[in-house]
Amino acid sequence: MGKILVIGSLNVDMVMNVDHMPAEGETILCDKMTFVPGGKGANQACAVGRLGSDVTMFGCIGDDEYGELQIESLTHAGVNVSGIICKPTEHTGMAFITVNSKGNNSIVVVPGANATFSPEDIDAHRELIETCEIVILQLEIPLQTVCYAAKLAKSLEKTVILDPAPVPSTFPEELYQYIDIIKPNETEMARLTGEGCELESIRKAVGQLENKGVQNILVTLGEQGAYLKEKDKSVVLIPSRKVKAVDTTAAGDAFTAALAVMLLEKKSLTEAAEFASLVSSIVVTRHGAQSSIPTIQEIKTLEDTK
Ligand code: RIB
Repeated sequence: MGKILVIGSLNVDMVMNVDHMPAEGETILCDKMTFVPGGKGANQACAVGRLGSDVTMFGCIGDDEYGELQIESLTHAGVNVSGIICKPTEHTGMAFITVNSKGNNSIVVVPGANATFSPEDIDAHRELIETCEIVILQLEIPLQTVCYAAKLAKSLEKTVILDPAPVPSTFPEELYQYIDIIKPNETEMARLTGEGCELESIRKAVGQLENKGVQNILVTLGEQGAYLKEKDKSVVLIPSRKVKAVDTTAAGDAFTAALAVMLLEKKSLTEAAEFASLVSSIVVTRHGAQSSIPTIQEIKTLEDTK
């Protein structure tokens, strides 16, 4: 069986659960703040590990307790952490997350060490890309590094999956040609293409990305499921499971990770998206980022007891 490489960010999440998001100029109180391992890249690596595939995390932390928290969490999830570079003069990335009573979040990230992840770091650990089958990228590290890594991975004939989060103010158009599968949520898709979030707009947005050379596009639509346009195939709408969400943090990360795990197992893109939808439906019923990601055994037990 092949390996998955996740190239991306590692953060400590500072989570505040509140009744409602503070409005502009408003001050609200919160009982406590919890510190948990997060970061879109690390969450994806954690999910791949918990779902039982061989995975390596490639990213940067600072020389501090939050970096150690990440190493501990990822190691415990079965992730190979040999690709995590410690940048002694930087702090580990920090994410300030507010979660409201509907389970929706708003996040501010201070990148710290993530911002120093350079193309030279990619070159120094080139063997990580050479020895994997699937590379997953997101956009919480410098875009130049993302493009460099994606280009190298593509030239080595790896499957490249991009989770385009967060969408930058200027998206590097060059990146599209190196991606095999792009997986935005509906808001990210709207920001990438200037279209709206309704189904008809998503159809147009998908057409735009196809014209830019992306062959497989999977847009997650929250409670409405997911919209899959695979190369040379008709659109497939993947239904979502009806659950009571308490915290949507890391649901998208887990979706991307689960998709990659199934593709590694040579499942079709539709089957992979269905499994990814199941995994993220479990994630939203639990609190936190990595803390909310189920293991493959838990999923089997949950499905068997249905
Ligand atoms: O996708 C969720 C993640 O976004 C959080 O864990 C936070 O660290 C930010 O990167």
